[in-house]
Amino acid sequence: AALLQYTFVVQETNYTRLCTSKNILTVNGEFPGPTITARRGDTVIVDVINRGDHNITIHWHGIKQPRYPWSDGPEFVTQCPIQPGANFSQRVLLSDEEGTLWWHAHSDWSRATIHGLFVILPRLGTTYPFPQPDGEVPVVLGEWWQNDIQTVFEEFMDGGGDPANSDALTINGQPGDLYNCSASTTTKINVDQGKTYLLRMVNAAMNNLAFFAVANHHLTVVGTDGAYTKPFNSTVITISPGQTLDLLLHANQPPNHYYMAAKLFSGQRSAAFDNTTTTAILRYTGNFTPSTSTPLPFLPPFNDRNASANFTGSLRSLATAEHPIDVPLKIKRTLLFTLSINTLPCAVNATCDGPSGRRLSASINNITFAMPRTSVLGAYYRGINNGVYGDDFPDVPPLRFNYTAASGLNRSLQTPEVGTEVTMLKHNETVELVFQGTNLVAGIDHPMHLHGHSFYVVGWGFGNFKRSRDSLNYNLVDPPLMQTIAVPQNGWTAIRFKADNPGVWFMHCHLERHVSWGMGMVFIVRNGKSADARVLPPPPDMPPC
Ligand code: C2O
Ligand code: CU
Repeated sequence: AALLQYTFVVQETNYTRLCTSKNILTVNGEFPGPTITARRGDTVIVDVINRGDHNITIHWHGIKQPRYPWSDGPEFVTQCPIQPGANFSQRVLLSDEEGTLWWHAHSDWSRATIHGLFVILPRLGTTYPFPQPDGEVPVVLGEWWQNDIQTVFEEFMDGGGDPANSDALTINGQPGDLYNCSASTTTKINVDQGKTYLLRMVNAAMNNLAFFAVANHHLTVVGTDGAYTKPFNSTVITISPGQTLDLLLHANQPPNHYYMAAKLFSGQRSAAFDNTTTTAILRYTGNFTPSTSTPLPFLPPFNDRNASANFTGSLRSLATAEHPIDVPLKIKRTLLFTLSINTLPCAVNATCDGPSGRRLSASINNITFAMPRTSVLGAYYRGINNGVYGDDFPDVPPLRFNYTAASGLNRSLQTPEVGTEVTMLKHNETVELVFQGTNLVAGIDHPMHLHGHSFYVVGWGFGNFKRSRDSLNYNLVDPPLMQTIAVPQNGWTAIRFKADNPGVWFMHCHLERHVSWGMGMVFIVRNGKSADARVLPPPPDMPPC
């Protein structure tokens, strides 16, 4: 395995989109940021140099970093922020990840512009489990905000209501030719007829899942979240914020120009072309006259929960001799976590835009996660958790109620408790965790993301989870191995994992507004007995608080 070196300079850079210019925070002046390319099992050292005027942390999304949580990045969970003028050399340990992952800022909302792909190729001498593609194409779904993102974030936190929407969805940083001033810079992907291309896709949008499609072409899904899947064909892709997909595009249509398009979905959006959509152009090479009207691909209505759940429910592990699965069959710890949007009283002397003059919040098992002022990992490692966090995160919700009913819900759960609570797991404990969506204030898909581990998605359904019925239908043969799973709107998802990575690991909804409202919690995986089952010592340059 190789040792690779990257330098990430965080800096303000001037960019022009949608007819205006402004400064955005970038890595090395690039938006989206630079792609890291490594091979399975490599170690990547990234020297992060903060030349911006803003605290920052960087997270390697989906990279488990065995026994080394120090580089993981979530602000105040594993580290204090890298302050302006400071550096942090982050050692990123790859293990069994293979495929497309990504990296992003993990402090307030700076990930809006601080993100890029993390490509992990097969080991030298090994190949993809599908025919070698003729080319590889990055597809980064992101957003452009006319306002300064820090201002958007602060207004959102102060207002207590829903955040402002972005002004454009983007593909590889470009809004596309349906927006003003954007035609000449539309992302164009050139292909030769008869060839096959590997699209490495991430949804880096802040607050919404997305649909994606290419006119007249289907896509073959071959991987997600840094693991391969059984290939399956789909004309429309659903992708959660935080999720990655590896997709084969077969350029098998008559030479022409074809639109690829993506659309965000949330309960506030219309289905027509607007600031929630984006296009790029697939251009066949060679001599031909492209037709004058380029049709847009079909995309489902923005909140089509069936289209979304059916796509996600089609993912299966490869489960071959080269890529075996290891789903825990005997479960030691069973957890049921409700995911809710709630409201909290507005602060004294503030006005809040949430329902009934309150502020919106979010919770897991009715606890709204409060960010500590120093890192949970630092406190845990030094054995001084007192005042930083408690270890009483409940295994089950405080009350049983009809979680997904449209009315008659338990109103007492609309005001959550606020606290920093963790769940302690034994080393190698096998865990089954059922996420239960609720309809308390609003039902929505929650893309739940776990740091430090991958998990098998063994089941999902709409309505209330019922173990005696639903556990009989689990897929224990070829469940997909993922790190970010969209829990269906007013439904549930069951995951299984083995807590084999000692350390402190954040788990949260990857919708930025929900994690900012408190939809997160922390797992602490204890050290094992042997010396090689303990958290490694911290590097000397951990940023101080
Ligand atoms: Cu993609 Cu906690 O992050
Ligand atoms: Cu959420």
